[in-house]
Amino acid sequence: MQFQQISQLFSAYDSKPVSEEIHPNDVMFNTGQSHYYTVGKTGVTAVLTALAMSWKQDVSSILDLPCGHGRVARHLRLLFPQAKLYCCDIDAEGADFCARTFGGISIHSQPDLLRVALPRNLDLIWIGSLFTHLDKQRTDAWLRYLVDHLSEHGVLVSTFHGYFTDKHTTMHGGVDEQRIRRDFAEVGFGYAPYTTLEGMGDYGFSLSKPSAILDIADSIPGVRASYIERGWANNHDVLVLNKNDRLQGF
Ligand SMILES: C[S@@+](CC[C@H](N)C(=O)[O-])C[C@H]1O[C@@H](n2cnc3c(N)ncnc32)[C@H](O)[C@@H]1O
Repeated sequence: MQFQQISQLFSAYDSKPVSEEIHPNDVMFNTGQSHYYTVGKTGVTAVLTALAMSWKQDVSSILDLPCGHGRVARHLRLLFPQAKLYCCDIDAEGADFCARTFGGISIHSQPDLLRVALPRNLDLIWIGSLFTHLDKQRTDAWLRYLVDHLSEHGVLVSTFHGYFTDKHTTMHGGVDEQRIRRDFAEVGFGYAPYTTLEGMGDYGFSLSKPSAILDIADSIPGVRASYIERGWANNHDVLVLNKNDRLQGF
């Protein structure tokens, strides 16, 4: 996408008020109103940065996974008012709320994303803080699965906990923090499940070095990869996968 187009998209988005409809169970709102909207808006910045590096000319279909209760979905809707917006989360109430409130289509996820039928030919997939809670094996498998659902030149934008999170974040939920930080330092990817949160299954906290995520990206055929440390909310790292074969000639 050309810079001029990016600039027009951002100006149009920035001139309109974002929806202030907050679901009572939106736990992301617990961090405070100002932080909530800033994080949402920087989702737009990350997406536009990714689009600036892509060969995509327009965005007509978007998957927000996991949408939660719409911290970013409300901004994506403003940025692309005409696009088909799929809102997917394992929290069905969150997905339904987003679809209803921001004019989208709800998809109820499952603990194993590979079992979820997702729409194909997606122009944009936004993954805000999903792999930040999963192990390396699922990160690898799910990234491949999602790339399969991109259109030609489609763009996947996904966030990760990197060096900054390692240094500045306290982990909750009874995770084995020592193990996560040790594996992060030694092999580039650390993960441990939450132990004090009920019914979460194999879901916890992960830290990953850019090199570990780029190694995964490197092994996925048919894409080009870019990485932006602290590219979301000045905190999470951002992986961008463009659905263009890195080996394709001119
Ligand atoms: C940290 S929140 C981020 C939510 C949202 N992206 C945001 O920025 O507010 C993580 C989300 O992942 C969802 N989740 C966990 N496992 C999932 C799965 N297997 N499929 C889809 N969503 C899942 C949770 O329900 C939760 O809404």
